[in-house]
Amino acid sequence: MEQKTAVIILAAGKGTRMKSDLPKVLHPLGRSPLLHHAMQTARNIEAEQTLIIAGHAAEAVSEAAQDFDEDAIVVIQKEQLGTGHAVAQAREALADFEGDVFILYGDTPFVSADSLQKMGEARANGDAVVVLGFHCPPPHGYGRLVVENGKLSKIVEAKDASEEELENSFSNSGIIAVDASVLFDLVSSLKNNNASGEYYLTDIVDAAVAKGLSTSAIECSEDEALGINSREELARAEEMFQSMKRRAVMENGATLFAPETVYFSRDTEIGRDVVIEENVVFGPGVTVENGARIRAFSHLEGAHVGEGASVGPFARLRPGAELGEAAFVGNFVEVKNAVLESGAKASHLSYLGDAHIGEEANIGAGTITCNYDGVLKHRTEIGARAFIGSNSALVAPVKIGIDAMTGSGSVITKDVPDGALGVGRARQENKEGFALKLRQKLLSIKAKMKG
Ligand code: UD1
Ligand code: MG
Repeated sequence: MEQKTAVIILAAGKGTRMKSDLPKVLHPLGRSPLLHHAMQTARNIEAEQTLIIAGHAAEAVSEAAQDFDEDAIVVIQKEQLGTGHAVAQAREALADFEGDVFILYGDTPFVSADSLQKMGEARANGDAVVVLGFHCPPPHGYGRLVVENGKLSKIVEAKDASEEELENSFSNSGIIAVDASVLFDLVSSLKNNNASGEYYLTDIVDAAVAKGLSTSAIECSEDEALGINSREELARAEEMFQSMKRRAVMENGATLFAPETVYFSRDTEIGRDVVIEENVVFGPGVTVENGARIRAFSHLEGAHVGEGASVGPFARLRPGAELGEAAFVGNFVEVKNAVLESGAKASHLSYLGDAHIGEEANIGAGTITCNYDGVLKHRTEIGARAFIGSNSALVAPVKIGIDAMTGSGSVITKDVPDGALGVGRARQENKEGFALKLRQKLLSIKAKMKG
């Protein structure tokens, strides 16, 4: 951006059309609240200041804002009297700001940095108010942009529009860039004599024209401008988000066997030459390094998969799962808050929680870290190259040493020193001929019963 920029994100509305107890801007898109998508847009244009206008369920909205950015400033709009009134609440926080103010909507997640850049250019060319518009065939509920002689002359809300005005397909995305030095004067001149009885931000165009200021509209695609007001629109947005993210992941050099069956989160990061098989779900907070393979039907969240590692099929990585280079997690293995160092393997049917597993260690089938005693969680440490016998129950807190082993079927309650074998199970005893004798006895009982 040529000028300094501040962003105001409008997020105070209830979102009545969502029919929800959750405020609209906290509904998830790509497993992140809608609000975070708008905040990401502000981050992409390197805004110096980002203000969030919260009102309905302000506490929850502030918390979500701070989750994304500890420095986010939240301004409260006590009563939601319209988008213009919402912007007016930022007056004090931006009193000393000079430059461009971009107004983003918490319910409009797809606006690109590119479009905002173009708006910034129009601002630099002298337009005091620049609105982002898009073409959308009527009927629909978006405001309509009225352009006369190449200049934007006003915005008419659908509710207030005449039949003729409603035929206009040039629509308001809601995103506006305004010169900070005129914004609050324009906003304070707004009236609420309209169909909704609200202070419409859109009326600042009219107000700017009346003051002799220059105004314009920049066009973006209909997809970018999608505003979410209902569950149906949210579902449509999710579909759009998923297909955009799949495309981005593939453009970045990953192979998706069946892209339409793989679901990503807003913050999923996938490296080059990663192969993702069919039906994989990425919850929030997952990073997959170059060359790793995520096999079919796996579910990952809050996990880091190292270079060349392999996960699944049918694996579950939960928050805090950290797989080193070339680590291997096979079918029906669940990993939570546990590190598998490079080359460590858990190939089948295990639960590894609150654990650290050293390099090249091998976890046998059916191994369980018993990390929870009903009240507290405890850690399991497994040394490098240790070999954990199948069906071992490792009762934490417990340490298995470097190069140590456990006998299969063991319940390990004491530390196993480096290089030692820990066995914790009943010793086997063989009774010669006993099985045959027992079977004959049982057969004769059965014969008597029949007779
Ligand atoms: C708004 C625009 C419309 C545009 C559409 C694009 C106005 C008057 N209308 O209508 O021209 O086509 O967006 O999606 O601006 N909000 C507040 N405080 C309030 C009211 C709303 O913070 O008092 C927030 C909401 O939380 C939401 C955003 O502003 O994030 C937009 O509000 P919404 O009610 O969805 O406006 P639309 O009817 O969609
Ligand atoms: Mg809306």
